[in-house]
Amino acid sequence: MSTVPHLTLNNGVEIPQLGFGVFQIPPEDTKDAVLQAFDVGYRHIDTAQSYRNEDGVGEALRESGLAREDVFVTTKLNNGAHAPEAAVEAFERSLERLDTDYVDLFLIHWPLAMLSDFVDTWKALEDIYGSGRAKAIGVSNFQLPHLRRLLVETTILPAVNQIEVHPYLTQRELAAFGREHGIVIEAWSPIGQGTVLDDPTLQRIARDHDRSVAQVTLRWHVQRGHVVFPKSVTRSRVEENFALFDFELSDEDLADIDALNRDERTGPDPDTFDRVPPA
Ligand SMILES: NC(=O)c1ccc[n+]([C@@H]2O[C@H](COP(=O)([O-])OP(=O)(O)OC[C@H]3O[C@@H](n4cnc5c(N)ncnc54)[C@H](OP(=O)(O)O)[C@@H]3O)[C@@H](O)[C@H]2O)c1
Repeated sequence: MSTVPHLTLNNGVEIPQLGFGVFQIPPEDTKDAVLQAFDVGYRHIDTAQSYRNEDGVGEALRESGLAREDVFVTTKLNNGAHAPEAAVEAFERSLERLDTDYVDLFLIHWPLAMLSDFVDTWKALEDIYGSGRAKAIGVSNFQLPHLRRLLVETTILPAVNQIEVHPYLTQRELAAFGREHGIVIEAWSPIGQGTVLDDPTLQRIARDHDRSVAQVTLRWHVQRGHVVFPKSVTRSRVEENFALFDFELSDEDLADIDALNRDERTGPDPDTFDRVPPA
């Protein structure tokens, strides 16, 4: 079994650099998908209140028999719960659904700057962190102006910024800001939900290394210092996505992949995303 490296977050917490994402896995299938990922060797699960499948993650944690401290669990605050009291309440419901006393990482899912004051929401996360029930706190889909406000107006720096990143959206500026301030980049949709798989440059590099395009893309993330959690319900792909630590891309490969950037999103743009799903 390959060994997943860990990164150290800015508060000293260790995070496995590769995890398993459960976005779009139906609630009734989540337990089995997570158990399958555990069986392959994943020990890091990325869920969210809005995915409506925290229960399934909790069931898998229980049934796996794994020690709680051996699994890194992230969840994210629902968009409808940005008011500070609502955020704390929603966090507590997450702990119940996940059947755990703490999460390893709790994130604000979207800044929703047009609908709420994410600085107040962040202060609620600081309180949760202070209570010890989240080992680390961070943000997701935050742009530079959002991060700059947190830097000036709050006391705890986010441990991570979870954003869409893949070869067609390399997010150079946010990555540089993260490096400067010790905020780890977590890359969501790391293979662009499959959109990068037909890319000729990635296919050439994959052939050179006798690997799949998905593996080469995920390896690029790893060597660029991102945390990744590809989603798959297909066992062969779950295994393929885990086999990233016995080969290495050259500096030239990395530069060729960096050059594929087109600033092209597969998901919503945080600057215009202001949808509040039903609570
Ligand atoms: N913070 C946010 O706002 C946000 C937004 C989106 C996602 N995320 C997180 O990021 C995780 C991953 O992102 P994602 O699910 O959007 O996209 P992704 O991991 O880039 O792509 C998932 C899609 O690719 C397929 N796939 C997976 N591995 C493959 C492989 N080796 N070869 C070919 N196809 C493969 C999967 O199909 P099958 O399942 O059918 O195998 C699925 O259709 C999510 O699960 C979630 O945890 C966060």
